[in-house]
Amino acid sequence: MRLPSAVLLLTALTVALPLAAQGSDAKGKYYFKKNCKTCHAQGKSKLSPLSMTQAQWKKYFQTGKHGGEPLSPKLGTPQQIMDIKTFLINHASDSPQPETCGG
Ligand code: HEC
Repeated sequence: MRLPSAVLLLTALTVALPLAAQGSDAKGKYYFKKNCKTCHAQGKSKLSPLSMTQAQWKKYFQTGKHGGEPLSPKLGTPQQIMDIKTFLINHASDSPQPETCGG
């Protein structure tokens, strides 16, 4: 009885963990506007998903730093940053669906 349930648990974890690491594209768009566009809407610092390629956004979020300070909690909860990351990567300049985020 013990072994099958352990196997089941392991299988469930293996399936669930990568899913849990995914952010939400739609929420990311919302939080990008709310948490980032306040400062990055225009001029020199204007940012949109198109500002970088998928590889460049991935690299940026791997460092997790914004001007030398951690992105979270200052610019959002870890979940919000994850959502923003998903949105930016999904719609980067070299993505299948590039998006300007309303200019
Ligand atoms: C309070 C204003 C403000 C907010 C909010 C803000 N930024 Fe910035 N950001 C800046 C400034 C100023 C710079 C350039 C100077 C610096 O690096 O500190 C910058 C630089 C950047 C850069 C260039 C690389 C770097 O780190 O220097 C990226 C990418 C970036 N921000 C992404 C974001 C994202 C993503 C968010 C939302 C999660 C965000 N910013 C929210 C002000 C802001």
